[in-house]
Amino acid sequence: MKNKIIKGFSKLSVEEKRSFISLQSKDALVTSSELKGFLIEDPVEQKHFLELSENTISSFYTPYSIAPNMVVDGKVYHVPMAIEESSVVAAASHSARFWAERGGFRVTQVSMSKLGHVYFRWFGDPADLWTHWDPLKNFLLERLKKTTASMDRRGGGILSLELLDMTGLIKHLYKLEMEVNTVNSMGANFINTCLEEMAEGIDFFFGADPHPEGKKCQVVMSILSNYTTKCTVSVEASCPVDELRSITEGMRVATFTDKMELAYMIARIDPYRASTHNKGIMNGVDAVLMATGNDYRAAEAAAHTYASRDGQYRGLSWCTVKDHTLTIGLTLPLAVGTVGGITSLHALARRSLEILGNPTAKELMGIVAAVGLACNFAAIRSLVTTGIQKGHMRLHLSNILNMLIANPDQRRETEVYFDGKKVSYSAVKHFLNGKKH
Ligand code: MEV
Repeated sequence: MKNKIIKGFSKLSVEEKRSFISLQSKDALVTSSELKGFLIEDPVEQKHFLELSENTISSFYTPYSIAPNMVVDGKVYHVPMAIEESSVVAAASHSARFWAERGGFRVTQVSMSKLGHVYFRWFGDPADLWTHWDPLKNFLLERLKKTTASMDRRGGGILSLELLDMTGLIKHLYKLEMEVNTVNSMGANFINTCLEEMAEGIDFFFGADPHPEGKKCQVVMSILSNYTTKCTVSVEASCPVDELRSITEGMRVATFTDKMELAYMIARIDPYRASTHNKGIMNGVDAVLMATGNDYRAAEAAAHTYASRDGQYRGLSWCTVKDHTLTIGLTLPLAVGTVGGITSLHALARRSLEILGNPTAKELMGIVAAVGLACNFAAIRSLVTTGIQKGHMRLHLSNILNMLIANPDQRRETEVYFDGKKVSYSAVKHFLNGKKH
């Protein structure tokens, strides 16, 4: 297949875009109507959906599941999760059920404010800048009153504005740090709008210079920070060690708790393990964020930066065994919204929030972190007992049978044959080929 460079693709209608792509992919036999076939049928929803992004020609779907019985601060949630990876929802559900019968997850800490920065260079005397700081701050806050009015009415708005000296790291560099409360919205647009207005304000305050190159102050950029160190959530769950007997797969409880603690410690000290350990947490976190129309890339960026906050990448969750009680916990930087943005525009995201009882952003943070910790606990439990492949086999086999287009009889026979055996694509193919002779 030889693709041609196309100019003005974005100017084509949706139909024209599909036709172009289908012609380009002639060898692969992707037809225009096939592409359209993956869309939501409701015309209004379809329009909203297509307009969420640019150059949209279809939709890419992902399994949408429920992890029932997630108890967070005494409330029961049946949590929507959008994820394609086998076993994540099963793991979250088993873990949720186990902890539900033992008091569930507790949110032990939540902080809710967000940060954004205007980076600028100051070429004048540093003392001059500090002399100007108070009047500049008042000028900027006054200038932003109109922009923040509606957020202020909702109980949010700008909490503080600080000038930070970064000249020790990069010559002449300063940053203006804005802390905001965006209430129940994730607030990315609000924060970036405020910051860009502040950047303009800084330029205005120091005066337009006929020779811009000769200015004392040069704004470099303004943007929110996804490293949300002031928007964090901590969750915990604990139970008497004797109650773990049902999940040790026949292992002595003392051996199990010892291996569990050790597994969490390994993730603290070895980045190779920490990466996979945290991936298991984010399996749950991202799936709930996807289902509720939240920005999972932001959560990923925040989580991994936080995981390396002391200079080494470490596991984000922990496990202790003390006084015959096992406790697990997780702290995540996490910015979510339950109003505005995709949460209001995407039909299924809206439904997800309804399924969760229309939580506040603060409540959603607790739910998301609880699901992350539930997935993590399930993974570590499997790893220190049976290994994870055992739990994966049923879905893995089903996916392979779908790939090999097995008929119902072949499926039944294969499932019986592979019961308790190791499943691989080649083994299943071999078995099916044998059956066909
Ligand atoms: C797989 O998606 C996630 C795990 O690898 C997580 C872990 O190892 O902790 C099972």
